[in-house]
Amino acid sequence: MKIRIATVLFASASMLAWMQAPAQDGGTLFKAKCAMCHGDQGQGKPPMAPKIAGSAKVADVLAKGGEPKAPHINPMSTLTAAQVSAIAAYVKTLK
Ligand code: HEC
Repeated sequence: MKIRIATVLFASASMLAWMQAPAQDGGTLFKAKCAMCHGDQGQGKPPMAPKIAGSAKVADVLAKGGEPKAPHINPMSTLTAAQVSAIAAYVKTLK
């Protein structure tokens, strides 16, 4: 009985981790939401989108709608504040 309860608890914890981890993972979010325009490493894809690797402006751009020409309305409306911070932290680590 004891073992069973432990197994169930472990299984639930793993499920939670599995469900939450991708949502908080800046790298995964970046690849899903930003890389198609800004490149896998944030290196930019001229003339489509500028380099953003290492940028400190990410949180601002995503929170306020950003640069005049940037089509960030879509990512903005589908990202939570926690996801925006995760992406911002990830982009800062890019070079
Ligand atoms: C559909 C293409 C597209 C997607 C998707 C996109 N961007 Fe952009 N982004 C642009 C373009 C184009 C600009 C330049 C806008 C301008 O010059 O006014 C830009 C500009 C920016 C800038 C400002 C760069 C600077 O230093 O001036 C940041 C920061 C940025 N994007 C971050 C992101 C992040 C983070 C994501 C993912 C959540 C993202 N973008 C998704 C196209 C895109």
